[in-house]
Amino acid sequence: MSQQVRGVVSLAKGAPVSIETIVVPDPGPGEAVVKIQACGVCHTDLHYREGGINDDYPFLLGHEASGIVESVGDGVTDVAPGDFVILNWRAVCGSCRACLRGRPHLCFNTHNARQKMTLTDGTELSPALGIGAFIEKTLVAAGQCTKVDPAVRPAVAGLLGCGVMAGLGAALNTGNVSRDDTVAVIGCGGVGDAAIAGARLAGAKRIIAVDVDDQKLQWATEFGATHTVNSRSTDPVAAIQELTGGFGADLVIDAVGRPETWKTAFYARDLAGTVVLVGVPNPQMQLEIPLADVFGRGGSLKSSWYGDCLPSRDFPTMVDLHLQGRLPLEKFVTETIALDEVEAAFAKMSTGEVLRSVVVL
Ligand SMILES: NC(=O)c1ccc[n+]([C@@H]2O[C@H](COP(=O)([O-])OP(=O)(O)OC[C@H]3O[C@@H](n4cnc5c(N)ncnc54)[C@H](O)[C@@H]3O)[C@@H](O)[C@H]2O)c1
Ligand SMILES: [Zn+2]
Ligand SMILES: [Zn+2]
Repeated sequence: MSQQVRGVVSLAKGAPVSIETIVVPDPGPGEAVVKIQACGVCHTDLHYREGGINDDYPFLLGHEASGIVESVGDGVTDVAPGDFVILNWRAVCGSCRACLRGRPHLCFNTHNARQKMTLTDGTELSPALGIGAFIEKTLVAAGQCTKVDPAVRPAVAGLLGCGVMAGLGAALNTGNVSRDDTVAVIGCGGVGDAAIAGARLAGAKRIIAVDVDDQKLQWATEFGATHTVNSRSTDPVAAIQELTGGFGADLVIDAVGRPETWKTAFYARDLAGTVVLVGVPNPQMQLEIPLADVFGRGGSLKSSWYGDCLPSRDFPTMVDLHLQGRLPLEKFVTETIALDEVEAAFAKMSTGEVLRSVVVL
């Protein structure tokens, strides 16, 4: 059995997205069908549409989502119909070499649904990040459903499913911020501002926001930036050094993901400091840097996939902190939109008008 619903598909490289009728199979063993309530528009969706991730068109876009479990397949015990869940793209396997070494956040064999969602002519869809949630109902592996307190607004909760968790975790998990740290964040979109919020939560003593857009810098202060630098008009390396006693920040997070922003991060950190790359570069980008600088400056150069989060641990925690008033996740939701407004949301993302547009169903 299956059902037909509406979803947002990227049919061909660079072309505007379209609403298509999609066939969603009933859940098989280990799978669940989730009725989507909200799904944020992330820059990664735009990367997919532009061919920046891979060429497996057509893509079913959307992956920062929350909803209600509608049905589950055989053998599913962790979630049941009626549960409020955030969808994750790290359903850990429990048996790969990372999981067996007690590092499930690095799992190399994460689960997705086995069955495929298709167009009505049978064409198989590639769901963005193994989710695909700009759709009325989606099919996922049951492990991709993380139960959280249903008191949270769905539009707010969904954002933890990708960008906001990636940013929070880049600071909290990968960057391991502690209270006497100085932190700089380059790129203050949803991901960068979440990194700023994470740095504040961990008690960083100084948080420097860098962006090319003054509106973004204004928003960054609302998440906890203590200082802002517009890198269009000011050299960001010099500005970060000046704000940190001439030394550079202990941790610099690159939430843009371009060679030039990574180099800024590299040179704006203190000796023995840490760089965390959370922005996603495209496959054409190359980095050239003197190896002697890599050696001579010491420290650690890391990348952060999904903020090194473990959804079962981190999603409920972040929702609880939000409900206690300690994490202003609601500020990420600039606007709520309908399913057919995703293309317009991409345009707004490019002009910097929004932090997150969230499709609400
Ligand atoms: N690592 C992960 O797991 C993960 C998860 C989600 C998103 N991402 C990636 O994180 C990045 C940011 O995502 P987002 O949704 O916040 O995007 P966004 O478009 O909302 O924000 C990007 C911000 O960077 C700023 N910017 C662009 N070029 C800049 C430059 N040269 N210097 C300084 N600032 C600059 C923009 O003004 C904007 O404010 C994307 O590459 C996205 O794919 C990574
Ligand atoms: Zn594993
Ligand atoms: Zn995302």
